[in-house]
Amino acid sequence: MMHKSCLRYNGSKWWMQTNHHLSEYIMKASHDHPYCELFFGSGVLFFNLWHPTIHAFLNDINGQLINFWNIIRTRRAEFEDAIKYVWCAANNQDWFPNWEADPLERACVFYLNNRLNQHITKPTILEKDLSWWANRLDQSRVFIDCKPFEEEMDYLMKLYTHNDPERLCDIIFYEDPPYFGSEYVYGKKFKVNDLETEIPPFKHCLLLKKNWEAREKGHNLYISYNKCPEVLEMYPPEEGWYIKEFPYSPNGVAPGRSTERTELLISNHPIIQRTNQRKLM
Ligand SMILES: C[S@@+](CC[C@H](N)C(=O)[O-])C[C@H]1O[C@@H](n2cnc3c(N)ncnc32)[C@H](O)[C@@H]1O
Repeated sequence: MMHKSCLRYNGSKWWMQTNHHLSEYIMKASHDHPYCELFFGSGVLFFNLWHPTIHAFLNDINGQLINFWNIIRTRRAEFEDAIKYVWCAANNQDWFPNWEADPLERACVFYLNNRLNQHITKPTILEKDLSWWANRLDQSRVFIDCKPFEEEMDYLMKLYTHNDPERLCDIIFYEDPPYFGSEYVYGKKFKVNDLETEIPPFKHCLLLKKNWEAREKGHNLYISYNKCPEVLEMYPPEEGWYIKEFPYSPNGVAPGRSTERTELLISNHPIIQRTNQRKLM
């Protein structure tokens, strides 16, 4: 069974999950292999991991998004109460006069705006029971963070070798950065009505540098990217990167149409699909 996120999101992995079962390519997390998603967004991959992870670290630089996930995890009942009698409208802020100062009200406005999001054209019904997502976050004992990815990686790599390099746990990093060529998509342009967050243009070379550092320390990396010469040049197979290609046509277009493209999954380990896990669920 596939699990949707309660958010709709530019660049969500929903299509890759429903068409290619992307989560089945990620190795199993455990006490010794904590899971970390550096670019969490709507969290589709995390919500479809086949096993509840022992520790999961979920990070995204977007403060409004992270505020929303924190509220769902810690104050779900209050959140549901606050949106009980509201619906998506052009001026969602009017329902919540204190939204600028109050994190709970801000999460409500973020959620309502997200369901109205003009980037995505279809209108949707408003889901008012968020218990499934709250429970899933709780089950994994998640830590939700709002840092630039390089700081989160440094923090975790330090945390897991703290004082005792012998007791290194290798982390499973899943990374879904902005596509190559889309460095500005999540910045100012990704303003959702009045909830604006400042996000600097994305630096692919910095991610590559941090990935080499993590790889040399023995961590496990899975990176989703769009196929293009620049990405293939950054992660060449002759330097030990494994690459799997997936056909990608998110709008269900006919073969040969221009929106068809190829999505990559890159890793420092052979990429294996663990299909039998589906039968065990
Ligand atoms: C492609 S989206 C992730 C989508 C997600 N996998 C999903 O299924 O919804 C990329 C995410 O990276 C975040 N981001 C952009 N620059 C970042 C940075 N420097 N550090 C951490 N997160 C960043 C954006 O806020 C956005 O949520």
